[in-house]
Amino acid sequence: MRVIGLDLGGTKIAAGLFEGDRLLKKEVVPTPKEGGEEVVRALAQAARALGLEGVRAVGLGTPGPLDFREGVVRFTPNIPGVKDLPIRRLLEAELGLPVFLENDANAAALAEHHLGAGRGFGSSVFLTVSTGVGGGVVLGGRVLRGERGQGGELGHMTLLPGGPVCGCGLEGCLEALAAGRALEREASYAYARSVSVPELFALAQEEEKARRILLQAASYVGLALASLVKAFDPGVFVLGGGVALNAPEAYWEALLSTYRRYLQGWEAPPVRKALLGADAGLLGAALTARFGVEDGAR
Ligand code: BGC
Ligand code: NA
Ligand code: ZN
Repeated sequence: MRVIGLDLGGTKIAAGLFEGDRLLKKEVVPTPKEGGEEVVRALAQAARALGLEGVRAVGLGTPGPLDFREGVVRFTPNIPGVKDLPIRRLLEAELGLPVFLENDANAAALAEHHLGAGRGFGSSVFLTVSTGVGGGVVLGGRVLRGERGQGGELGHMTLLPGGPVCGCGLEGCLEALAAGRALEREASYAYARSVSVPELFALAQEEEKARRILLQAASYVGLALASLVKAFDPGVFVLGGGVALNAPEAYWEALLSTYRRYLQGWEAPPVRKALLGADAGLLGAALTARFGVEDGAR
């Protein structure tokens, strides 16, 4: 089946033309700063640039939370200007094709489960640590959306009451403690100047101050995984995202040691690194379109 996958990110939009799981063609354009309908127009343009001939459906991965019944993006903690956007209706009108929505991390979770690090396991829980923190729970080959489209928003689990304020407005979410933005915030505070994530990684090889910031964030991720064992007991955890995948070895050691510490007396599911890289979201969006057509579901 020929489908188009779209992946809406904070800085760029990726669009891919797929035949089955095979990526035939890809387009990347910047995400408009104006938000709202400009974003929809850019998505439609990227899809059209791939060619719509023979395309059965479009899958769109977007940060959430989402309302799947209405096809609405409720809000996006890391993209300004997107609020209660009826993105499905608008995009269908632009393209004249059925559009299937999915949360961006849910889409990546689906791709890693079927085609990447989660392959062969009955269930998997995916966590992506990048600008934000996204999650996805895959059970029975399909993603858990919850009754209101808020299921699998694992980045917004509260880990520290009274902690730093998250993009979602609440305090002490995993995202506010461990995402790229959180690392930059802590490092910039500690060094009294702006420090990027790659710079922090480099500093952490040499300086205790930087190292402590990084390991603190890593152990929050480990803590979250240990709690998720009690919620889902998945076959495997798949960890992706630019922060987690590019972090120095010490980050992974801190993450896994906290994970094990909070699972003493419990069985610990394996933790694997994501395998599909930056295209996971795009592949997942394509799977969303295909499953949407096959399952006859929204
Ligand atoms: C959003 C999630 C998204 C994640 C990664 C979070 O801030 O709430 O829906 O999956 O960022 O993009
Ligand atoms: Na999710
Ligand atoms: Zn939050």
